[in-house]
Amino acid sequence: MIDTKKDFPIFKNNPNLIYLDNAATTQKPSSVLDAERDFYENHYSNVHRGVYQLSQEATELYENARESIAEFLNASPEEIIFTRNATESINLVANILPVSKNDKIVSTLMNHHSNFVPWQLLSQKTKAKIEYLSLSESAELDVEDFNKLKNATVFAFTHASNATGVITPAKQLIEQAKDAGALTVIDAAQSAPHLPIDVKKLDCDFLALSGHKMLGPTGIGVLYGKKELLQELPPFLTGGDMIREVTIQETTWNDLPYKYEAGTPNISGAIGLAEAVRYLQRIGFDELLAHERDLTSYAHKILPNYVDVYGPAPSKKLGILSFNVQGVHAHDVASILDSKNIAIRSGHHCTQPLLNALGLTSTCRASFYVYNNKREVQSFVDALELSHKTLVK
Ligand SMILES: Cc1ncc(COP(=O)(O)O)c(C=O)c1O
Repeated sequence: MIDTKKDFPIFKNNPNLIYLDNAATTQKPSSVLDAERDFYENHYSNVHRGVYQLSQEATELYENARESIAEFLNASPEEIIFTRNATESINLVANILPVSKNDKIVSTLMNHHSNFVPWQLLSQKTKAKIEYLSLSESAELDVEDFNKLKNATVFAFTHASNATGVITPAKQLIEQAKDAGALTVIDAAQSAPHLPIDVKKLDCDFLALSGHKMLGPTGIGVLYGKKELLQELPPFLTGGDMIREVTIQETTWNDLPYKYEAGTPNISGAIGLAEAVRYLQRIGFDELLAHERDLTSYAHKILPNYVDVYGPAPSKKLGILSFNVQGVHAHDVASILDSKNIAIRSGHHCTQPLLNALGLTSTCRASFYVYNNKREVQSFVDALELSHKTLVK
């Protein structure tokens, strides 16, 4: 049994807090907070600019962070672009791909809005066709629909759903998309915090993640892109640091990954994220996933029968429980839980197409992570019982 609560100051400062909104964002361990503080207190300067000692220290810390993330994903550092978050990473890709009206984009109804809207907009702008893989009753991707990948030129999908926790068969999907000749964009915002990711094994072209969902700071995200593609594609944002030479006539671009990092980056965020990755690696992903599944299975087992759960069995998903208490609106359930210091999410989870496909407008979502335990799951279920008793006449 993992016992990590002591590593997270928020729980010392809020001893009664039961935090079950980890799919939205995660709490930060002291080691991450210390790494950021150490940078600001001892090594702070801008990167890639100064020849003086402090600037070189900052640059080294920032580039070491990139190397740690590259190792974590089994990529090369040139392929790791620091962004603000997964949303920006995906928008970056949607803005640089040479899509035109003869292309076909394939997305899925499972995608978070940040991996849905950029493609919808791109299709509207370019007149490229867009199709969506639909969902089965258990909210998994419908295997029958995989033939929509035929003739696709871009395939953008989710590695794990934030709304239901469903894990998609990423390797198989990428293989099928490659057979069709499509470029693949995988949203790993939910999977990277819980599953080991190897971009070489997956053979994806682009992958996006957010630091704040995996114990790292807010405002730092990652885009992995295959080197040969990033070399050929145009830049996204332009300005300082991403250039090689600027004249009145024209500008040439910097080497990778700097070509895609215009302006002063989130240096402390990158350093904090690398520390978060080290924290997760010390625990081990097998151990982490087993812990979350244990909590999820326990929740499934003790939930009262007036709670409807959406999505498959715990073995096919992350530690996410998407549900409704019969006869009670999701926001009312969340409010009652809040009165017991239990934080869960309610609403559409930025996945309106997914909820629509399931015939729902909102659900409650409890999402477990490294610092949660069975006692908290029990308190959560007790509070659900209270919401039912209080609000269902
Ligand atoms: C699956 C998925 N993709 C993308 C995002 C967007 O992440 P961010 O808001 O950090 O850009 C989220 C956030 O909830 C998510 O769950």
